[in-house]
Amino acid sequence: MIIREEEKRDFDAIISLNDAAFGQPQEGIVIDKVRNSDSEVLSLVAEMDNTIVGHIFYSTVVIECQNETVYGMGLAPMSVLPEYQKQGIGKKLVHESLKILKNKGVPFIIVLGHEDYYPKFGFETASKYGIKCQWEGVPDEAFMIMIFNSDRMSTIHGVAKYRDEWNEAM
Ligand SMILES: CC(C)(COP(=O)(O)OP(=O)(O)OC[C@H]1O[C@@H](n2cnc3c(N)ncnc32)[C@H](O)[C@@H]1OP(=O)(O)O)[C@@H](O)C(=O)NCCC(=O)NCCS
Repeated sequence: MIIREEEKRDFDAIISLNDAAFGQPQEGIVIDKVRNSDSEVLSLVAEMDNTIVGHIFYSTVVIECQNETVYGMGLAPMSVLPEYQKQGIGKKLVHESLKILKNKGVPFIIVLGHEDYYPKFGFETASKYGIKCQWEGVPDEAFMIMIFNSDRMSTIHGVAKYRDEWNEAM
């Protein structure tokens, strides 16, 4: 299996994969929109025998805190084809993407998701750092953060906002 950045020829397979993993079309639709509007996205695929079996997608998020605006990345969504789940593909996608984003100097990453899954990679409850989710009704422990630059983030508190397109999927 290889992990690599997406290419144009993968776009349809990425939609099908997300549809299959989530059982609904919203994620794939928003991925296409955000990819067009956000030049910073990171989109990695896991490929096995010429088949896209896994995908992870990050787009820009912003925290506006008093006179400061800090940009980070938001993980959403990630998916592995149902028949390939629980074989470590998701884990490889997370590790590889975190390495890339850390090397790029991204100060923080947020994720809204399974509270049993993401802490395995070092994500922590965001509220611990005074960082809140933009959507109401999200359980505290489901909104997580990974801080790469603690100096930069030490004075930053407030709401971390995903790209507007994500409102459609929520
Ligand atoms: C979540 C998902 C991407 C995980 O991919 P995966 O390839 O099955 O995950 P891995 O095999 O790498 O699992 C890594 C670890 O997480 C555990 N794990 C897998 N899915 C999990 C889940 N939904 N909740 C909690 N733990 C989970 C595995 O048991 C494994 O644990 P271990 O390291 O102790 O052995 C995949 O299940 C999926 O596509 N789900 C449907 C879409 C979805 O919910 N996406 C996430 C949105 S936040």
